[in-house]
Amino acid sequence: PKVHWILPNGDRVSDDVNENSNLMDAAQMNGIAGIDGECGGCLSCATCHVVVDDAWLALCPPMGEVENAMLDIVSSPRQSGSRLSCQLAASPVLDGIVLHVPQ
Ligand code: FES
Repeated sequence: PKVHWILPNGDRVSDDVNENSNLMDAAQMNGIAGIDGECGGCLSCATCHVVVDDAWLALCPPMGEVENAMLDIVSSPRQSGSRLSCQLAASPVLDGIVLHVPQ
């Protein structure tokens, strides 16, 4: 499935990501600056923050309690579409998803 990242400077990076790959790993493979994924996806660092585009938000699986709590400590301001990208996976439903990379 296609994933698009919009960088803080407006540039777009797009990739075809294997189904079920988590979107933090995918960002790292694409060298997206600002998605550090320091904990490797075990939900303890909050350095994989992305803001899901409004058009895609309702299609994302609901966030868990821990993700929700972690989003309160992200370094850039939390927004309504904020998610931790290690908790999202590429899937046919999310084919074409647009993720905004926070400053
Ligand atoms: Fe650490 Fe997502 S990579 S919380």
